Amino acid sequence: MDTTTIDQLSQHVGRQVGITGWLYNSRSSGKIAFLIVRDGTGMCQCVVEKSAVPEDVFERAAGLTQESSLRVEGAVKQEPRAPGGYEIHAVNVQRIAPSVDYPITPKPHGIDFLMRNRHLHLRSRRPWAIMRIRHTVIHAIRRFFDGRGFILVDTPILTPSAGEGASTLFEVDYFGEPVYLAQTGQLYSEATIMAHRRVYCFGPTFRAEKSKTRRHLTEFWMVEPEIAFIDLDELMALAEDFVCAIVEAVLADRREELKMLERDTAPLETLKRPFARISYSQAVDMLRGPVAQEFLTAELQRLQERMSQMQADIRKLEGELANARKPHQQDTLTRRIQEIREELADVQEQAQHIPEHMEIVKGFRWGDDLGGADETVISRTHDRPVFVHHYPREAKAFYMKLEPQDQGKTVRNFDLLAPEGYGEIIGGSMREDDLDALLGRIREMGMNPEHYAWYLDLRQYGSVPHGGFGLGVERTVAWVCGLRHIRETIPFPRMLGKVYP
Ligand code: 4AD
Ligand code: MG
Repeated sequence: MDTTTIDQLSQHVGRQVGITGWLYNSRSSGKIAFLIVRDGTGMCQCVVEKSAVPEDVFERAAGLTQESSLRVEGAVKQEPRAPGGYEIHAVNVQRIAPSVDYPITPKPHGIDFLMRNRHLHLRSRRPWAIMRIRHTVIHAIRRFFDGRGFILVDTPILTPSAGEGASTLFEVDYFGEPVYLAQTGQLYSEATIMAHRRVYCFGPTFRAEKSKTRRHLTEFWMVEPEIAFIDLDELMALAEDFVCAIVEAVLADRREELKMLERDTAPLETLKRPFARISYSQAVDMLRGPVAQEFLTAELQRLQERMSQMQADIRKLEGELANARKPHQQDTLTRRIQEIREELADVQEQAQHIPEHMEIVKGFRWGDDLGGADETVISRTHDRPVFVHHYPREAKAFYMKLEPQDQGKTVRNFDLLAPEGYGEIIGGSMREDDLDALLGRIREMGMNPEHYAWYLDLRQYGSVPHGGFGLGVERTVAWVCGLRHIRETIPFPRMLGKVYP
C-alpha cells in the first residue's frame, strides 16, 4: 500500500493509501469515529466505522488522544464538505507514539499561554498558515533579487561597531573584547557592491528595543539590497516592484492559508503601482493640518462603534452559552467570547490614545522622526503604500547622503509605509559617498571615526553613488497576513521580556 501525504490525496481517489501524522482532534460515537489527522502538509478527516474494521482497531482508534502520532490506512474518497476536500475511510489505524495531556486543547487559551507553549502551538492551524505564508514571502524575496542579477553576499552577525543607533546595541563578550550583534548588514554590503555591483544580504538582525510594541522584535529578519550607480528614484522604483512581487507570490500560492486567517484579500489584490510619494515636509504639513484631525475624529468614532458592536456580540454569545448543553458548543462559545474580549481590549486601548494623539500631531515639530501612530495616520489616509522621502538629517542614520539641494537639511532617504495602517516596512537611502561629508556626519553624531576606518576606505578608493534599502520580513508578513501583532510572524519571537522557548 502506497504511503502518501495529505496534499497528494487528490492523486489517489478511489485507492487505498497510508498516511502518517498526528491526531489533531477526534470524536466518536459508539459506532463511528472521526479522526482529524494533520501530517504537516494539510489536514484530513479519517472515518473509522466499527462495522468496517476489526474490533481492536476501532477501540484503538476511538481511544487515541490529541497529538498522538499515528498511521492510518484506507480508501481515499472525494468529500467536498470535509476540510481539504478528501476523506479516508480507514481499514487500519496504528498508534506510533502516545501523547498524554497535550496542553493546547480545543478549549480557549490566552495568547500568553500559547506563546509560552510556542514549541507546541506551532502545530495549530493559525501559526501553521502564517509560517507557510512567511515561507512564501522569503522565497519571493530570493527569487526577486536572484532574477535581477543580484549576488547574495552574507554579512557578519558579530560586528565591532554600530550600524544603526547605538541605543539598540546588544553587546557580546568576544574573547574579552566587546562586540555587537548586527543591527544591519548594510555597511558590509556597501563594501561588496564594489566587487559585485548589485548585492543583497539576508539574515537575522538584532535591536535591543526597550519597549514592547506590536511592531518591534529584538531579533528579526531583514533583506537588504545594495546597488552601485543608482539614484533615489530608481531605488524607490525597485522597492515598489519588489513589494508587488512579494504580494503577487502570496496571492498566487497561499489563498487557502489567507482564508484560514480570515484575511480580506481585496486590499492586496488592488495593490496599485505607482505607490504614493510624499516628502517628509509634506507629511508633517498633513499631520499638523485638518486632514489628520478629520481622520482621527472619524477613526475614534469608528472604534467606538466597533466597541459597542463587540459588547453586543459578547452579551448575545453569553446568552447562548447559558443555554448551551453540549460540551463542544460550550467550548466554541467560550472561545469566541474570549477572542472578542481580547479584541475589545485591543480596540479600547487604541481608542484611548486617539485624543492624546490629536494634540500631538497638531504640534508636530519639523525635525522629529515619525512615530508608529503618525505613520498609521499617513498610511491610512492613502489607498496604497506610501513612500515618505527626505527626512531631516537629525532624525536619520549617519550614513545617509545629505541632500545638496537644501544645503543638507534633509537626507536622500525614504521609508515605505504599508497600507491599512501597518507603518514602515522598508527603510532605505542613498549613502554618503563623499569622504569629508561622511567624516563630518560621523563626528557630528559623536561617533569615533577610527571605528569606521574600513568603511571610510570605501570612499577613498573609487567611491561611487550608491544606495539600498532594508525590508523587515516580520513586518511584511504581519501586513500581508493582516495580523495585529508581530509576535505571530516568526516561529520563536524574541521581544523585551521574552526569550522562552
Ligand atoms: O529602517 P531600518 O532601521 O533600516 C536599516 O537597518 C537600514 N540599514 C536598511 C538599509 O538601508 N539597508 O530597518 C529596516 C526595516 C524596517 O523598515 C522594518 O521593516 C524592519 O527593518 N525593522 C524591524 N522589524 C521588526 N522589529 C524591529 N525592531 C525592527 N527594526 C527595523
Ligand atoms: Mg527605519
